[in-house]
Amino acid sequence: MKVVYFSFSGNVRRFITRAELKNTMEITQNNCTERLDEPFIMVTGTIGFGEIPQPVQAFLEINHDLIRAVAASGNRNWGQNFAKAGRAISEQYNVPLLMKFEVQGTKEDISEFKDKVGHFNEDNRREEIQSY
Ligand SMILES: Cc1cc2nc3c(=O)[nH]c(=O)nc-3n(C[C@H](O)[C@H](O)[C@H](O)COP(=O)(O)O)c2cc1C
Repeated sequence: MKVVYFSFSGNVRRFITRAELKNTMEITQNNCTERLDEPFIMVTGTIGFGEIPQPVQAFLEINHDLIRAVAASGNRNWGQNFAKAGRAISEQYNVPLLMKFEVQGTKEDISEFKDKVGHFNEDNRREEIQSY
């Protein structure tokens, strides 16, 4: 499944690069109002006090029907607001929060994420088959 991500200071970009996924798209100020034609998993950092970065909000306004899951980066120094953009997106669009990770993630975080994206693809395929 496509992984769409936004990175305001490079942490999520490093996480995604290290995960070596095949189908990714980085949201920027220039493309955040583009309409996609396939489902995706969103990965984003958290800004403000537990907020969803603005380009991610803009992107989701247009593409929210295609989001299937979310993962979020943050920093535990932010206490209750740690990676809260993930929870916010999960609740607003009713999709699972796959995981929260700190800054650019550890090796374990990356392997957990790859695993979950893989399972997600499998589960989706199973659903497709069952719906025939
Ligand atoms: C202005 C600012 C506000 C932030 N607010 C939060 C926050 O509320 N909660 C949190 O967990 N992390 C917060 N962070 C940390 C970032 O979410 C974290 O560094 C993340 O890895 C950024 O990912 P990115 O560089 O790929 O966008 C904040 C960082 C900045 C610069």
